[in-house]
Amino acid sequence: MKQANAFIEQKLAERKSAGSYRTLKPENSLIDFCSNDYLGFARSSVLKNKIDDELKGFPLTSNGSTGSRLLSGNLQYTEDLEYEIAQFHNSEAGLIFNSGYDANVGLFSSLPQRGDTIITDELVHASIIDGARLSHANRYTFKHNDLDGLEAKLKQAKGNCYIVIESIYSMDGDTPSIIDILHLTEKYNAALIVDEAHAIGLYKKGLVCELGVEDRVFARIITFGKALGCHGAMVLGSDNLRNYLINFARSFIYTTAASVHQIASIKIAYRMLQDSDKAVEALKNNITLFKSGIKDTSTLLLSDSAIQCLLLNDNEKAKNAASKLQHTGFDVRAILSPTVPQGTERLRICLHGYNSVDEINLLTKTLNELTNA
Ligand SMILES: Cc1ncc(COP(=O)(O)O)c(C=O)c1O
Repeated sequence: MKQANAFIEQKLAERKSAGSYRTLKPENSLIDFCSNDYLGFARSSVLKNKIDDELKGFPLTSNGSTGSRLLSGNLQYTEDLEYEIAQFHNSEAGLIFNSGYDANVGLFSSLPQRGDTIITDELVHASIIDGARLSHANRYTFKHNDLDGLEAKLKQAKGNCYIVIESIYSMDGDTPSIIDILHLTEKYNAALIVDEAHAIGLYKKGLVCELGVEDRVFARIITFGKALGCHGAMVLGSDNLRNYLINFARSFIYTTAASVHQIASIKIAYRMLQDSDKAVEALKNNITLFKSGIKDTSTLLLSDSAIQCLLLNDNEKAKNAASKLQHTGFDVRAILSPTVPQGTERLRICLHGYNSVDEINLLTKTLNELTNA
């Protein structure tokens, strides 16, 4: 026991001396430039009331789901919703997981087998990396958005080969060239899997649908905790893929199903997404306004999405800048290493449809002053 405690103390001390010690902070009343609530669904009282109405109409008084989907936790209501969401995204089928983390871990730990190959962009989300680590497949990464690097790895691939990218990268906010990656995928008989967590919202159905290439993408991961303002996720793909995951994805099989509250919230949020043209337009306008307000763009990562990052390249600098912004009234957070590679520490600004023009102008003015100081 003593040794275990000493180990913990040592690891925490290491984090502190690297300036990367993490702490939880309670909610605040600052102007939101931090959350993933891109379209304002999580804060929408209209959505909340509609969810309440939906739950009132539900015949059972069921708080918890009472079991895993394969035992007592499955509802026809959930399966109907899965079908409805899959249709919305032009997919044959889909399977809900309790979170995006669970979806990626379940998919990547169960599908690629020993002798197969997983090739990921170096910046894919931790949940993809963790899932791939749990598989027995060969794993390669290629430099961020580097198609030559991807092709070099494809030449080395053995067995079934899965290429994994995000349509909007969570920490950089940029977009890969999906069409070019599809050409390579097809040239080497691989299967492309796209995590669309941050693209749903800005592109209602995701970027894969926006590009009209849904039939060429093997699977997509969509999450409900970001623009949908709820919680949970879904893997979109063929009926066979859905059945495979029900049989082999351990993060689906060995966990209690989401409660009916959660499923109803997702259902009603999807109805709202279909009707969200104004919020999407407001978000797009705010992205343009923010980008045009930054004077020195040399540290601004190239991004047309709601995620905008200013590189500060050091944990302390990033933390100090975030703290100054917070004192000015903005909820902007620093993203530190090891969440991002060392030397790429940054301020990560999340824009929303509900941020006002004044808020964005004041933020860019403050950022300009900060980066000039
Ligand atoms: C690209 C990406 N995939 C998956 C996830 C995990 O989703 P969830 O938060 O629903 O677990 C995230 C969350 O940050 C993400 O950014």
